[in-house]
Amino acid sequence: MILQRRQTIHTTKNPSECAQIISGSILKGDTNLLSKYEARAQPNQRLRPAFGIDNAFTTDHSERHKEYRNKVGTMLRPDWNMVASAAKRLAKNECPKNLVNLVQSFVLKMTINVLFRHDFPSLDDESISLVASEINDIWIGSKLPRHIVPWSKQDRLHDALRLLVPNRDPLDPQRNAMNFILPAFETMWRIVLRCFIEVRYRGAEETEEWIAALKLFLENPTVRLEDSHEGASEIEKAISIVREALRLYPPTRHIHRHFRFASGSSILAIADIEGLHRDTAIWGFDADCFRPSRWANMRHEPEPFNAWMPFGSSPFLCPAKPDFGPRMIGILVAALVDAFSDVRYELNVRDPRGQKESAKFYGLLRSDRDSYKELFLEKVDRRCR
Ligand code: HEM
Repeated sequence: MILQRRQTIHTTKNPSECAQIISGSILKGDTNLLSKYEARAQPNQRLRPAFGIDNAFTTDHSERHKEYRNKVGTMLRPDWNMVASAAKRLAKNECPKNLVNLVQSFVLKMTINVLFRHDFPSLDDESISLVASEINDIWIGSKLPRHIVPWSKQDRLHDALRLLVPNRDPLDPQRNAMNFILPAFETMWRIVLRCFIEVRYRGAEETEEWIAALKLFLENPTVRLEDSHEGASEIEKAISIVREALRLYPPTRHIHRHFRFASGSSILAIADIEGLHRDTAIWGFDADCFRPSRWANMRHEPEPFNAWMPFGSSPFLCPAKPDFGPRMIGILVAALVDAFSDVRYELNVRDPRGQKESAKFYGLLRSDRDSYKELFLEKVDRRCR
């Protein structure tokens, strides 16, 4: 009989301990025998067979890590005016339908265009839907190793990827477009979905104000907070909406590291980013509320008490943190709001028999990857379309 050794798990939402776990070097005063790359790569190994990738998340080689990171750095400098106008156009072209499918397809089109196809061609809808939904299903399935279908057998996905991103062989682990699509799309579609719902469908008093701020941001996508100009306070409001959504719904809810100590013991340490971001001791009694105004006057101190870590922290800080991530989320949410803020669009819950009722949300939105499949964005008067 094979006895499986149980792994000790340590979880924390303390900000400095989270940062220490992420660094992968020391835990509770004990030095990790694994390198920081090994500490990070081990919990991510399931992604290799599942997606056929070899990137900063899965490698324990410092050189491969550096090479991949540098490559990503060069990919995250788009022409923001082009991005904003493409987002506006693409969001308007999306037919009202299942909300998760709509957001996934819109965000994936934008991700592929920004990372690989800089002239923003139209992309094949069927391939986009297939890649978007498969990424989600494979990710969820990969949590149980016996559910992993080897990447080499995902023929339909390979064909779709070859069509969407030519010149990148999906069967070459270092060239596979998934190396770049995964970290970008996987994080962005979920935050865009939740931010869109918070802004547009919670019935907050500030709804109109938020919509106006986001629309202004869409018209001025290159603006920086440091630049003072006419609509500065509106732009600041748009940035606060993004920061607040990333606080309440960090796409990377937990960051895992392996630790092995000289004593022979080993620990899977978990930085509970979601717990940290909702801690009332740090954020106050209304930590669970979407309140972008809490970020007002935090222009120069955007990370109170180092307790805002949606993009992780050193030495593996996300390269999208300084500019690309927040700006892209703002543009994508603004484009959806712009396309669907018309009163003729309503958000309904449809049950399996097709019965519908108006969607209502209470408290925090759900954070799981397979939430909200029952939501449908629909035109009120079908004769209008
Ligand atoms: C916009 C929402 C995004 C969020 C919330 C986010 C979040 C994160 C987090 C939490 C980490 C740290 C993971 C860890 O320590 O194990 C990370 C790392 C990383 N992210 Fe992002 N990310 C976002 C967008 C992107 C995009 C658009 C890209 C572009 C491809 C990207 C590329 C990376 C890379 C390459 C790393 C690894 C950095 C390293 O190992 O040095 N991320 N991201």
